[in-house]
Amino acid sequence: MFDSFGQRYTRNNNKFDKRRKTVKLNSAKGRKASSTRWLRRQLNDPFVAEAKIRGYRSRSAFKLIQLDDKFQFLRKGHRVVDLGAAPGGWTQVLAERCINGRIVALDIEKIESISGTTIICGDFFSSKIQHQLKTILGSKANVVLTDMAEPATGHRETDHFRIAALFETAVEFATDILVNGGTFVGKVFHGGAEKNILQLLKLHFTTVQHFKPLASHKESPEIYLVARGYKN
Ligand SMILES: C[S@@+](CC[C@H](N)C(=O)[O-])C[C@H]1O[C@@H](n2cnc3c(N)ncnc32)[C@H](O)[C@@H]1O
Repeated sequence: MFDSFGQRYTRNNNKFDKRRKTVKLNSAKGRKASSTRWLRRQLNDPFVAEAKIRGYRSRSAFKLIQLDDKFQFLRKGHRVVDLGAAPGGWTQVLAERCINGRIVALDIEKIESISGTTIICGDFFSSKIQHQLKTILGSKANVVLTDMAEPATGHRETDHFRIAALFETAVEFATDILVNGGTFVGKVFHGGAEKNILQLLKLHFTTVQHFKPLASHKESPEIYLVARGYKN
């Protein structure tokens, strides 16, 4: 099962990794040191390897699997909005876990089609796109997810500010379309505007918890906030 991998893999006791040989990579002429570091990490990342085996388009798929294994917010027949979905790892997991539901995925980048889902290409900040999302969804959603993030600038404050803006707009959108008792899950950066965001979520939801899936790189500032029990 998908979750067994998440359970087998732990950061401190990485049995899965012990069975894998570490790929060594010498720095090459013409390749930046940062590119060599990235390549080395990709080649030795158990989630990248497992995503390939299972046909997931991104290692991010395991973040959603681990979030849902812990908080259990996805069900058969659920109506779900997946914001920032490219290349489609989360959407693939939704198609598996929300059979007979309605899944609408959005990204500014093009996403290849995924059976059982509807994909929209556009900027989430556009009111026209938000209207299109609502129209395709047809009625209220059980779950709204956002994994949206713009490419990092390297300037910490700017990156934190941009992800917070995406998150807050997603919360506003979610409060318009969630069913009573619905769930919102979104990504923010630890150490940014997350305190204000927590307060915002607590206004609208009964419980708010944060979680860093094992599949999230430990050096990454990203964490996920899981808000359940939407109070309409
Ligand atoms: C980390 S990736 C998402 C990975 C995805 N969840 C998966 O499982 O494959 C973040 C995505 O957010 C998208 N994004 C950023 N800003 C956006 C915006 N304003 N509207 C729509 N998508 C946006 C990016 O294009 C990028 O594909």
